[in-house]
Amino acid sequence: MSALEESFRWWQRGVIYQVYPRSFMDANGDGVGDLAGVLNRLDHLEWLGVDAIWLSPVYTSPMADGGYDVADYTDIDPVFGTLADFDRLLVAAHQRGLKIILDFVPNHTSDQHPWFLESRSSPANPKRDWYLWHDPAPDGGPPNNWVSCFGGSAWEWDERTGQFYYHAFLKEQPDLNWRNPQVQEAMFDVLRFWLDRGVDGFRVDVISHLVKDELFRDNPANPDYHSGLRPRHELVAVYNADRPKVHAVIARVRSLIDQYDDRVMIGEIYLPVERLMSYYGSAGASELHLPFNFQLLELPWHAQIIGDAIERYEALLPPGGWPNWVLGNHDRPRIASRIGSAQARVAAMLLLTLRGTPTVYYGDEIGMQNVPIPPDTVQDRFERNLPGLGFGRDPERTPMQWSAASNAGFTTGRPWLPVAANYATINVEAERGDPRSMLTLNRRLLALRRAEPALAAGSYTRVPAPGDVLCFVRHHGRGRLLVALNLGPNPQVVGRPPGAARGRIALSTHLDRDGEDVSDTLALRPDEGVIVRLE
Ligand code: NOJ
Repeated sequence: MSALEESFRWWQRGVIYQVYPRSFMDANGDGVGDLAGVLNRLDHLEWLGVDAIWLSPVYTSPMADGGYDVADYTDIDPVFGTLADFDRLLVAAHQRGLKIILDFVPNHTSDQHPWFLESRSSPANPKRDWYLWHDPAPDGGPPNNWVSCFGGSAWEWDERTGQFYYHAFLKEQPDLNWRNPQVQEAMFDVLRFWLDRGVDGFRVDVISHLVKDELFRDNPANPDYHSGLRPRHELVAVYNADRPKVHAVIARVRSLIDQYDDRVMIGEIYLPVERLMSYYGSAGASELHLPFNFQLLELPWHAQIIGDAIERYEALLPPGGWPNWVLGNHDRPRIASRIGSAQARVAAMLLLTLRGTPTVYYGDEIGMQNVPIPPDTVQDRFERNLPGLGFGRDPERTPMQWSAASNAGFTTGRPWLPVAANYATINVEAERGDPRSMLTLNRRLLALRRAEPALAAGSYTRVPAPGDVLCFVRHHGRGRLLVALNLGPNPQVVGRPPGAARGRIALSTHLDRDGEDVSDTLALRPDEGVIVRLE
């Protein structure tokens, strides 16, 4: 075991790759990706050089929200395969040294989950209190003003039992009542089920939502709201998320996970960084290993803004808190569409050279873009609820582009979402053979990160740089690497970093400057990022 392996856990050294299973690879020709498909494509992930696969939900589900509406937490939906398929995938991934991280969706179930069917059956049902039922307000309307993340009131009226239930997302996704100890125990059993099977950890869905205000107080209006923002931002979520008591619950989940060897707990939390930090836990009550840091998804693509945000994030991390960075996921527009293909290369270099665990979204390694979805093929309910506002998530969930074969090699059937028009050139097979492709760049970045302890685990120091350039040094032991990223369309010149006599280019995003000597200054072409090994 190397010194790095001894001092850093796999989830610190490694790179996570998110697979959206519906869209990764379809092995049985029904047009929807499945577990056998993921298994068939492990070659790609091993060759690419990632360390862990996070699978978005594969549990039994009516698929109102792409599987984030779970009807059975301990089984696999037939569209994805069977538990035996899952076990086969787990064994095969482990044989290749790849970890498997499951998506755990504890905040809500499907309205078809047996727990909810029981809960809904009568106010006297023993499981009534497993969900959040409430009498109407005096005017007969919803109990308070909370809004669903997908638009509209978060309360759904149940005619038969004369009460409302709360759903932070779709009405088909009723929220569980995590204050109820039986709910906690039931969910802990779910975690044990998968941990005993050998999964390496969990990405926990909307973890900061688990506990709500006991008094169900109205949220205050958001004075900064404007129509471009998501519906939930009409109000400030003071009372329905990020409540103080959620921390004790998360700490309990963590202590369960800690009973198993070397597993990871990641949490999905969209909060300002100062709030995010509290989710690492406190002394004696650890919470998340990695509260997802989504800043790169949201910040304007500007060198000074991003540089400042990195510094601030680094400064706010609690002692022992390990950083992480996310550039794309199944809920946000693809990076190559947001900032363009040339800058997407620079972004890949940034993601894979920052201090902290990177998460790569499937397809971003080949430069996949958002795909326009004709109105009659829209799948996402967020889009169907609020059409045309740009909230829909289908564009970033389209089939992985494997080759120039029909349907990009994703399926022999009819794909559940349209395949990108550019698949004949933007695909794994074509890019594998191209020494200048986005895929080659990503593979080389991953290899460099693996080979250079400075990148995987070294310190981060920002280096002052002109306007459009973001520049920093990563340092570990005797290794020092300068990363200089031109986030703009004009050529730039970066001065020699303090303390370095000279250096040699290890990698350029243009893939054509290997080994070039750098002495006094470093010239960057438009949209170019460069990694220099300093001497
Ligand atoms: C966050 C997930 O990433 C998103 O896809 C889902 O719709 C909501 N949580 C509800 O589970």
